[in-house]
Amino acid sequence: MKIVVLGNGTMGAGIVQTMAQKGLAVTMKGRSNESLDRAMQRMNKGLTRLVEKGKMTAEDADQIIGRITVTTDYADIAQADLVIEAISEEMEIKKEILREIDGLVQPSAIFATNTSSLSITELASVTKRPEQVIGMHFFNPVPV
Ligand SMILES: NC(=O)c1ccc[n+]([C@@H]2O[C@H](COP(=O)([O-])OP(=O)(O)OC[C@H]3O[C@@H](n4cnc5c(N)ncnc54)[C@H](O)[C@@H]3O)[C@@H](O)[C@H]2O)c1
Repeated sequence: MKIVVLGNGTMGAGIVQTMAQKGLAVTMKGRSNESLDRAMQRMNKGLTRLVEKGKMTAEDADQIIGRITVTTDYADIAQADLVIEAISEEMEIKKEILREIDGLVQPSAIFATNTSSLSITELASVTKRPEQVIGMHFFNPVPV
């Protein structure tokens, strides 16, 4: 299954790390290479702390990082089976992104939103697959 997470902020990076910790390959889509680098550095730091505390081995941490790919290009997400949106909590921005990916990602894919309080029905309505748009709410910090 190809999983893509949109957003590399607090929640996006946390969801990506959690998916990778559970053994799933995952792509993190960010807006710039710099922000993706920063997200990966934060993740590496967090995993190093877990290794130091004896909660995982260095090999485990390497494998987790190895399951993550990053991209700034929506074209790279076309083959996704599950897209988890973790973009800023603004209806118009989320709608704009959902509209854009609806035309790019294969029709069978499921879109999940991590919104805290926006209407999932309203978000789903801008896509041609409203029955495949779901809420998937994670708490912060996601890996915990
Ligand atoms: N932080 C929390 O405690 C928490 C908990 C549960 C759910 N949420 C929800 O998760 C979502 C993300 O929250 P967060 O705390 O990770 O926010 P954040 O500010 O840390 O990250 C927001 C992400 O959205 C991206 N973004 C913003 N505008 C964009 C645009 N126009 N196009 C593409 N990307 C854009 C940013 O680059 C960043 O990667 C929100 O819907 C929020 O309500 C947050």
